[in-house]
Amino acid sequence: MSPITPAQQLFDLTGEVALVTGASSGLGRRFAKVLAAHGAKVVAAARRTDRLKDLAASSTNIAPLVLDVTDNASLGPALDEAENAFGPLTLLVNNAGIGGGSRIVDTEPGEWDAVQETNVAAVFHLSRAFAKRLIAQKAPGAIINIASVVAEKVGVSSASYAASKAAVLHLTKAQAFEWAKHQIRVNAICPGYIHSEMTDDYLASAAGLDMIRRVPQRRAGDPSDLDGALLLFASARASGFITGASLLADGGLALA
Ligand SMILES: NC(=O)c1ccc[n+]([C@@H]2O[C@H](COP(=O)([O-])OP(=O)(O)OC[C@H]3O[C@@H](n4cnc5c(N)ncnc54)[C@H](OP(=O)(O)O)[C@@H]3O)[C@@H](O)[C@H]2O)c1
Repeated sequence: MSPITPAQQLFDLTGEVALVTGASSGLGRRFAKVLAAHGAKVVAAARRTDRLKDLAASSTNIAPLVLDVTDNASLGPALDEAENAFGPLTLLVNNAGIGGGSRIVDTEPGEWDAVQETNVAAVFHLSRAFAKRLIAQKAPGAIINIASVVAEKVGVSSASYAASKAAVLHLTKAQAFEWAKHQIRVNAICPGYIHSEMTDDYLASAAGLDMIRRVPQRRAGDPSDLDGALLLFASARASGFITGASLLADGGLALA
């Protein structure tokens, strides 16, 4: 029998170099802090530089990176800059995302396009650039895509957003399938409603409070509710044989 690894070692990320997109607020900020607290070096990327500087000031394991994930031409140079900070990347957390609030008949073409470009196309292109580097270096790595409970359950968000997250979930499986032989694991976290800048106004509204009453656990989540799912997929020791998986963290919303 293999020796039992204590939990502290199982989730020790020393030696990992992570890029977290959308790290200037909400879930991404929490992801960057959790990975850094477990020993990883973390490049925290987003467009709001002041926020990233504050975050980087909280830990010597975190460096800021200005990145618009929809700017394809900037992805290669951004990965170079990220690697200049802490060395070759081993982990990518595709977290940057935007909501899309309208009913289908009220959705402008530009709104649909913006949601798909940020939530889906950017995940495709950044993951591709990241994986190409790992494959060239013959190095193992991992990608964690942030999808959503609405990838499978419609009726609790806009169609543009739900469709984008369903695409992220399917992309996760396709990436996992293509890159398993290169020792690149790809998994998705599917959060339910979690307090963040994206959701706080809605969660405080009458419609949001009504939705919370329908969540089996009768509450919205806190970003810390995703710590365990993040660490599980980030750690090759903990989830080395898991790829193409998705993990719901939604207080039971998908069951309702
Ligand atoms: N909160 C929830 O209930 C929930 C549930 C399921 C899934 N999610 C997903 O979780 C992820 C994080 O959401 P959140 O709730 O933490 O929302 P948030 O607080 O609004 O954060 C979104 C982050 O994405 C970044 N971002 C947006 N567009 C970007 C772009 N073009 N380039 C680079 N960064 C960009 C923002 O940074 P800048 O504006 O500084 O660039 C920000 O850091 C999203 O993918 C969201 O769909 C959230």
